[in-house]
Amino acid sequence: MASHLHQMYPKTPLRLALTLPGILHVEKSPSQIDAASFMHSFQVNTLGPMLLMKHLAPFLPTKSTRPFPTLPQSDDNNNSTSLSLPAYSIYATLAARVGSITDNASGGWYSYRASKAAVFQLTKTFDLYLRAQSRDRALAVALHPGTVRTDFTREYWGTREMLEPQDAAERLLDVLIGVSADFEGGRGRCWDWKGVEVCP
Ligand SMILES: NC(=O)c1ccc[n+]([C@@H]2O[C@H](COP(=O)([O-])OP(=O)(O)OC[C@H]3O[C@@H](n4cnc5c(N)ncnc54)[C@H](OP(=O)(O)O)[C@@H]3O)[C@@H](O)[C@H]2O)c1
Repeated sequence: MASHLHQMYPKTPLRLALTLPGILHVEKSPSQIDAASFMHSFQVNTLGPMLLMKHLAPFLPTKSTRPFPTLPQSDDNNNSTSLSLPAYSIYATLAARVGSITDNASGGWYSYRASKAAVFQLTKTFDLYLRAQSRDRALAVALHPGTVRTDFTREYWGTREMLEPQDAAERLLDVLIGVSADFEGGRGRCWDWKGVEVCP
């Protein structure tokens, strides 16, 4: 993927990255823990995002890269839209509220929780790398999309209130654009679809 991107866009820095891999093996009690399912969860939910960081990091701007213009973006018909991306790159990874140790009130889902808790750590670590490498030209954050009606939650459709994928995506994009690249501006942390921090 990285070499394909490099061929297609040799001189274009990556401006907005959203990395999404996630699967869930449900474990309600320790007796349901299964080594192969655990390995699969970590492969997709933790190692997947980590390898994406490895291979996409070279596309992010460095401190000497010129800031992007902050003009409103155009859609396919060349009409101006209200979306105005910031002057720096944003690298986002989908975490999950259940990956928060602070927030864990109900237990269960051992592998999923542990693999997503690691995403909070990876995000912070990658953001520290970007602070050194790119300063205010690039930042990393993690996101919690809310409970969304996707294949991921198919089993639970109709049992609880869910966001539609488009609503979740629009809300997350608003949150992403609101995170600023200065030290206290929210970089390196996890934000939910309402813009509220999810603590590790
Ligand atoms: N839906 C929710 O309520 C909810 C809540 C909290 C967090 N999340 C997180 O949000 C992210 C997106 O989930 P979603 O709701 O959009 O579910 P989804 O429709 O099931 O999407 C799952 C994503 O994971 C990728 N994936 C699955 N297995 C993979 C594998 N073996 N290798 C590489 N990629 C793989 C899929 O890629 P393909 O499209 O190529 O199959 C897809 O992009 C996930 O990280 C999930 O944990 C979702």
